[in-house]
Amino acid sequence: MGDMHPVVAFLEAGEHRICHCGESETFPVCDGEQDASACRKAAVITVDKDKYVPICQCGRSSSMPVCDGRHGYAE
Ligand code: FES
Repeated sequence: MGDMHPVVAFLEAGEHRICHCGESETFPVCDGEQDASACRKAAVITVDKDKYVPICQCGRSSSMPVCDGRHGYAE
């Protein structure tokens, strides 16, 4: 299991690719510069306006890759 808290990213309106491997220079946004197979797994999210978005680090969110507040705890 990963970190129990989200990483909060300021994302501008539009599409963003969320890092899958954890090695991105622009983490939590994928920089497309790491292992190609990992970068292909980056989740794409669309943000309707410029805003802060919590990116799940625990892997248990029901709305991956965005944190839903459950932070690794079972229901
Ligand atoms: S970090 Fe919040 S649900 Fe995963």
